[in-house]
Amino acid sequence: MPENIFSRKKKIHEIFRDERVLYPEFLPESLPHREKEIEALSFCFKPVLLGKKPVNAVVVGSPGTGKTVSSKFVFSQLEEFSGRAKSLYVNCFEFSSRNAVLFLLANFVGAAIPRRGLATDEIYSRMLEHLKKADFIPIIVLDEADQLISKEDGSKLLYDLLRVTETEKILLGLVLISNDFDLTSSLDSRVKSSLSPESIVFEKYYPAELKDILNERAEFAFMDNVLEKDVINVAAAHSAKLGGDARIGIESLLKAGRIAEKENSDKVSLVYLRQAFSSMDSALLSKALPFLSEQEKIILELISSFNGVFSGKLYEKYSKTKEHLELRSFRSTISKLESMNLISAPLIEVKPKGKSKFISLKIPKEALQKFLKEKVK
Ligand SMILES: Nc1ncnc2c1ncn2[C@@H]1O[C@H](COP(=O)(O)OP(=O)(O)OP(=O)(O)O)[C@@H](O)[C@H]1O
Ligand SMILES: [Mg+2]
Repeated sequence: MPENIFSRKKKIHEIFRDERVLYPEFLPESLPHREKEIEALSFCFKPVLLGKKPVNAVVVGSPGTGKTVSSKFVFSQLEEFSGRAKSLYVNCFEFSSRNAVLFLLANFVGAAIPRRGLATDEIYSRMLEHLKKADFIPIIVLDEADQLISKEDGSKLLYDLLRVTETEKILLGLVLISNDFDLTSSLDSRVKSSLSPESIVFEKYYPAELKDILNERAEFAFMDNVLEKDVINVAAAHSAKLGGDARIGIESLLKAGRIAEKENSDKVSLVYLRQAFSSMDSALLSKALPFLSEQEKIILELISSFNGVFSGKLYEKYSKTKEHLELRSFRSTISKLESMNLISAPLIEVKPKGKSKFISLKIPKEALQKFLKEKVK
């Protein structure tokens, strides 16, 4: 009888203590280097503890700078501390219309309404009816808010919610999270003035900060002494180079650990880490490219011909191609490519004109060009 494949008595090396600590949805107990931002956000919501109206907040920063995780942390702490507030987290990539968000909100305040079949205004009035009776202060967190408010229908939703606080005197808090630093500029001036938010900026992490973050996560995720020397340093340097994005470092550690497990190695080596980087580039591209229009691919290819370029110059070059794109749509394409993690586009001070986005690829040029060519075949 052949030996059962599961019974092989090979020594299995344990790499992970708990790999879930490296999963994207994991909520760590401490968030190094975000103390100031967490303090600023929680300060906006302190009035809630006294039954007063909170200050609305706009949280902006580049991808992977801890906006989502810090906001979730603040509201879970607030709810743990006081029963007066309850938060509703909405990812506007998933729920990007007035109808979809109102549906969530209505159910959140206790109006059990069906997913389909009701007109938006009907959902709104049922939501309002229940909102008036709610025995808590709702805090609505709109993550990736640009996906919602860049549309007319989405900014109408914002208008609805703000009007409720003014005309009905309902206490309600709003948090808009985005990597578009210009998020509120397209809003109608009435909406802007009644939102009057506190703006909280999440700066990119420095390499040393990324090192601290990765060290802390790795301590809980990996068994003692399995990380080869310099693995954390190289992962931190790589994330710093790609826009100070902590997500990249954390994911690369998870991937490198899994490769070590598969190879039944007792160490996570730099070789495995580098393999992890390259598998992440390919995974990112094959996930993103099917969702890109031809126009967006052309812009991406154009970006790859520079070693970093200011947004104005890129628009100028792009306008010289046969394609045409309004400046506004061009800007929203840049934001989309940034949210998809394909490019980094931090705002940089350029004298004397003010700030401008400095755009560079977050994936190796060769990998991108290979993918674009394969698509054409
Ligand atoms: N200070 C920190 N300490 C520990 N982990 C962190 C810290 N900042 C970010 N992370 C982790 O990095 C990853 C990315 O963070 P997060 O999702 O909050 O970024 P984001 O700013 O919302 O990015 P995006 O704009 O792409 O949505 C998450 O896994 C998060 O747990
Ligand atoms: Mg986020």
